[in-house]
Amino acid sequence: MVNSEVLLEVNNLKQYFHIRNNLGEKASVKAVDDVTFNIYRGETLGLVGESGSGKTTLGRSILRIYDLTDGRIKFSGVDITKLRKDKLLPYRKKMQYIFQDPYASLDPRMTVSDIVGEALDIHKLASSKKDREDKIRDLLKLVGLNTEHSSRYPHEFSGGQRQRIGIARAIAVEPEFIVCDEPVSALDVSIRAQIINTLEEMQERLNLTYLFISHDLGVVRHTCDRVGVMYLGHFVELVESEELYKNPLHPYTQALLTAIPEPNPEMAKKRNRIILKGEIPSPVNPPSGCKFRTRCPFAKDLCSQQIPEFKDQGNGHYVACHFTGKI
Ligand SMILES: Nc1ncnc2c1ncn2[C@@H]1O[C@H](COP(=O)(O)OP(=O)(O)OP(=O)(O)O)[C@@H](O)[C@H]1O
Ligand SMILES: [Mg+2]
Repeated sequence: MVNSEVLLEVNNLKQYFHIRNNLGEKASVKAVDDVTFNIYRGETLGLVGESGSGKTTLGRSILRIYDLTDGRIKFSGVDITKLRKDKLLPYRKKMQYIFQDPYASLDPRMTVSDIVGEALDIHKLASSKKDREDKIRDLLKLVGLNTEHSSRYPHEFSGGQRQRIGIARAIAVEPEFIVCDEPVSALDVSIRAQIINTLEEMQERLNLTYLFISHDLGVVRHTCDRVGVMYLGHFVELVESEELYKNPLHPYTQALLTAIPEPNPEMAKKRNRIILKGEIPSPVNPPSGCKFRTRCPFAKDLCSQQIPEFKDQGNGHYVACHFTGKI
């Protein structure tokens, strides 16, 4: 563990979206459904899970982009769950977001200098025009962009460079915490490592804490200190990264790991090979009891009747399964 200071404390967070179904009836999408965990200062906490499991919604809820349906979020000990505009602004500065798609997240009509400068302006971080220009130049240099290109527009850059612009914009406001939502998924495989290196370098220099969302368990393994596995809006497992790969305890995690190659034959032998059948159920009508039970090869009657507790098995290895250690 990098540090034992809790930066973010999330308790029983629920984020439901109200929609109308095909028949025009009101329904609610339980995108995040009762999630409790901490993020420690300086760590990178990975978040994995299939498409639709609620990763992005959880990241955005923590940043207070939505009004929470229920639950509580504390940042550095301060309850920010119900803060409004003025009071929330300082926390908006401390918590930033890096998007998956650098193409869509940058305004095509703004130059790089405008994009980074805007972030400085919102939080009044430049004392003069010269200071603003200096800061923009330093930021571009820091993330590995050519400072002579500051008057260019996003379309004049490659995907990797655009993601560097996104990183510069996020760190411009001197945040403490950044949600990196699939920051390399849209990029060429060949440049993913470079962007991840830049993120790691920024983390070290600026003492940042990351929530790192990814589909790719391979990327998460090397980037994250701990990893949380989400299924249908909640955590099924959360533990230090190496331990997750060596000793996955939840059948869903085991299934996700089955899908990635394990170079070490000894480790591969130890793994339960579980092939996931079917699709993730709808978060409008999730299964009763354990939400994973409809796809779990080990499910018993109890699993449909009782929600399994998300419990520490020792050493901070959290699992939500009635049969942990027995399968
Ligand atoms: N604004 C919204 N209104 C209604 N439903 C939403 C909204 N945002 C997300 N959802 C639903 O909430 C669920 C979780 O979505 P979310 O985008 O958080 O998943 P994800 O794990 O990030 O998926 P992906 O890996 O595809 O990015 C999905 O069923 C999605 O359709
Ligand atoms: Mg997402």
